[in-house]
Amino acid sequence: MEEELLNIKNNAVSLILDAPDLETLEGVKLQFLGRSGKLTVAIKEITKIPQERRPAVGMLANEVKTTIENTIESQASNLKSQVSKKIREDIDVTNPGIGPPLGHLHLITQAIEEISEIFKSIGFSRVRYPEVEWDWYAFGALNFPPNHPARDDWETFFINEEPDPKYGPMVLTPHTSSGQIREMQRIKPPIRMLNLAKCYRRQSDVSHTPMFHQFEGLVVDRGISITHLKGVLDFFVKSYFGEKRQSRIRPYHFEFTEPSFEVDVTCGVCNGRARLPDGQGCRLCKEGWLEMGGAGMVHPNVLKNGGIDPNTYTGFAFGWGVERVLMMKEGIEIDDLRLLYSNKLEFLEQF
Ligand code: PHE
Repeated sequence: MEEELLNIKNNAVSLILDAPDLETLEGVKLQFLGRSGKLTVAIKEITKIPQERRPAVGMLANEVKTTIENTIESQASNLKSQVSKKIREDIDVTNPGIGPPLGHLHLITQAIEEISEIFKSIGFSRVRYPEVEWDWYAFGALNFPPNHPARDDWETFFINEEPDPKYGPMVLTPHTSSGQIREMQRIKPPIRMLNLAKCYRRQSDVSHTPMFHQFEGLVVDRGISITHLKGVLDFFVKSYFGEKRQSRIRPYHFEFTEPSFEVDVTCGVCNGRARLPDGQGCRLCKEGWLEMGGAGMVHPNVLKNGGIDPNTYTGFAFGWGVERVLMMKEGIEIDDLRLLYSNKLEFLEQF
């Protein structure tokens, strides 16, 4: 019996120390200490041996049990610390983590900031005026005769409201020129305004969206002439598009400027040559020039409507589209302008 107990002990201890993981160890424990485990069974056998030998065998059996239990316990704690060491080794804290996804400013917001900075650097102050506006600010005070069809050129949205006896119908402003009169009412000359705001027109195709942005410059002071307009225009073109690009002004007609111009910039794709290096015609421009928008010398009637004496002061104004100048920038080719406002991340993430 003693021999059997010592065998059980040796056998158990070696199996315990060989156990490679906690699961195997649990199996060994059951094999010896479980209800029908080897040691449990042996202990039950003690009742069958002669009375006088029982105490000695009983003590030995207890010793064996304690040894097995202690060995299991220490092996278990060994295995546990190996596991946590392994986990620690598997985690390389010097690895770069997975960063949270970072967004960026919308393409149009980037353009708005860039344009604003360029004009700020030559003394323009940025303002914004109402998007829901009276006909008088959008047209009437800008020298459009009452009910004159020239308003149709602006494809205006009208608001379903009673017209004001003095200011006429309410509209969604179709151009930032409505800010000219508001600025003249706000401050006396010298005026150097950049009105950058949303405009609305009934239009939607690959190069037009019903909502878009314009930036309107207005300069009113003593002795302002076309050369000032051309200087500011060139400064903007070189700053925004790059030194290589040229600008030109060509005669046009607006009710609120006299003389009026359309402003063109050399095409960034063919560099103003109208032909590509392979001899093919440029697919983007007409004869090397791209149209940027309108400009002109403020009409004397407009100055009068803004409370400014046209005999003392003169001024120039221009109004160009943010989306338009963005599309004219080199390297930005957007097939459909409406994509800009589609909130499609696959598109927006490219910029
Ligand atoms: N408001 C005109 C447009 O939307 C542009 C313009 C602004 C023309 C200022 C002359 C002076 O087309």
